[in-house]
Amino acid sequence: MSKKPFYITTPIYYPSGNPHIGHCYTTVACDSIARYRRMQGYDVMFLTGTDEHGQKIEQKAAEKGVTPKQYVDEIVEIFKNLWSYMNISYDRYIRTTDDYHVKTVQTIFKALYDKGYIYKGEYKGKYCTPCESFWTESQLDENGKCPECHRDVVEAKEEAYFFKMSPFADRIEKLLTETDYLQPKTRAVELVNNFIKPGLEDLCVSRTSFKWGIPVTFDDKHVVYVWIDALSNYISALGYENEQYNDFEKFWPADVHMVAKDIMRFHAIIWPAMLMALELPLPKHLAVHGWITFNGQKMSKSLGNVVDPLVLGERYGADSIRYHILREMALGADSSFSNEIMINRINSDLANDLGNLVSRTVAMVIKYFDGTLPIEKQSDPMDEELVNMAKALRGIVDECIDNTTLNIALAEIFKVISRANKYIDETAPWVLAKDEANKPRLAAVLYNLLEAIRISTSLLSAFMPSTMPKVWEQIGATADDVSYENAATFGVLPQDITVHKGDIIFPRIDVDKEIEELNALITAQAEKAKAAEDKDGVNLEPLADIIGIDDFFKADLRIAEVKSCEKIPKAKKLLKLIVNDGFGERQVVSGIAKWYAPEDLIGKKIILVANLSPAKLCGVESNGMIVAASVGEDAKVIFVDKDIPNGSRLS
Ligand code: MSP
Repeated sequence: MSKKPFYITTPIYYPSGNPHIGHCYTTVACDSIARYRRMQGYDVMFLTGTDEHGQKIEQKAAEKGVTPKQYVDEIVEIFKNLWSYMNISYDRYIRTTDDYHVKTVQTIFKALYDKGYIYKGEYKGKYCTPCESFWTESQLDENGKCPECHRDVVEAKEEAYFFKMSPFADRIEKLLTETDYLQPKTRAVELVNNFIKPGLEDLCVSRTSFKWGIPVTFDDKHVVYVWIDALSNYISALGYENEQYNDFEKFWPADVHMVAKDIMRFHAIIWPAMLMALELPLPKHLAVHGWITFNGQKMSKSLGNVVDPLVLGERYGADSIRYHILREMALGADSSFSNEIMINRINSDLANDLGNLVSRTVAMVIKYFDGTLPIEKQSDPMDEELVNMAKALRGIVDECIDNTTLNIALAEIFKVISRANKYIDETAPWVLAKDEANKPRLAAVLYNLLEAIRISTSLLSAFMPSTMPKVWEQIGATADDVSYENAATFGVLPQDITVHKGDIIFPRIDVDKEIEELNALITAQAEKAKAAEDKDGVNLEPLADIIGIDDFFKADLRIAEVKSCEKIPKAKKLLKLIVNDGFGERQVVSGIAKWYAPEDLIGKKIILVANLSPAKLCGVESNGMIVAASVGEDAKVIFVDKDIPNGSRLS
């Protein structure tokens, strides 16, 4: 029999900064569902990826003097490393810069245009002339000025394409209010009242004021703007309108799109409208969660309140972090992050409840039966409650997975774990052990405990995939024993099971000491930054990892002379230079126009990274990079002695 398909997606993340614990929530939640569905026997497609186009990326790359693609490549690696560290079992990773995605988006854009849903109009917004950027009202700084350079902005217009939303308003309202598309459904009211009732506004879907986007095929001064590009990822990744994959028939419509509340509107209104316009089936569920907040604010780099999951993971283990964020976050609500709450939860649930249950049970089997239980057992009516709770657990967790209420699933699993701990107190095995005649009863008690552990940890393994196999090794369970099929049956482990003593799975954390250390870490970081600032008046970047001399010599650094230099009219941050590198002349583009006029550079000698692969910055070819020092927000070009011949290599 062929397996039933199940398709689940995270949002695609902006690679504009390092991922933080806020990004981890959706990805860890989707991963747990994907793992659970695989255990249930579904053929799962779990998709995640990165949303790589847009003005912000273009600007950040230009500031660093690299191409947008080079810029995103570096951050995408950081995302992928984090996902691998957190044991994220995605089946496919989409990058919106992938060729096949570009093709799909171009085809969709043209199809919507041909159907009359996309039309040409005028985009009006706040425009910063020096930065050549449009901003929305909410993006402006606290004084209503440009968020980049903090200068005045003016009202301006540019030609743009728009997507007509009004034809879909009624169907979308029904989707939100009459179906179970939106989870939790309570959010439908706010969407209908705020966006649908006042009349759905058409959506701006192309721009001409920046270049880093997917070109509109039939009007090449336009690039596709944000949402048509981003949302299409869910179908391009299956091969819709491209030759890369061939899974659209199998996996579409998606079973679950999971997103946080800030992008709910795009997934609840715009995405269904796009699919309706393309005459495609709608996804089955949109699960919306709140934010992980820190001191009451959404985590964000600009607020300086990001929590680095790798730092926490190294101290407490990836599974503990997974458990904590999943247990804390209720669907729809925000959850506030604090190191103290996290450590207390790891101690109480993982070290005390689960860890102790496993180590005590295994230790008692070793102590009283040399590690192997006897076949002869004697049951008692007092076993019933634990046995029944354990048997019912799989059904309860199944329902939570259907409803995306993962915090409840974990709470239910830990109810069985707590019940098992209580059962130890009730049955008092150490008292039974005193009398040889009670051995069959003692064997039954320990067997029931092992079974309760087997069932709860087999279900828990979808949420905490790396530590549960360690438990199974200790209780002597095979892969078959801990299968999903066996999770609703009590009495699966062999009657004469042998256990194995192992390491403590979740060591208890000394809360006061740990909080002190974490605080010291934060203070040390702040002091280091402050000391660097006092010393040089700048914030120094931390030193990079050690490399070998061979790595250094991969970069070919040469002395070159600036022969000519000019501004680039369409890119205010860039200068175009012709330099002589000793072998001849070459063109280099550098993002230093904010600090240098062309005449400051002509005739000067600089250091050139001479073996960088050619790249285009805002459409202008660059063959190398000029070395400059980052001084706070500024860049200072390194000028060298005029007597050093062009082409001399730095070594
Ligand atoms: N690129 C768009 C999504 C396009 S999907 C077709 C985007 N990217 S994002 O990187 O800014 O955010 C991705 C997701 O991470 C969003 O759902 C966002 O809300 C979520 N989170 C970012 N910070 C978060 C928290 N602090 N807490 C929970 N989720 C958070 O939006």
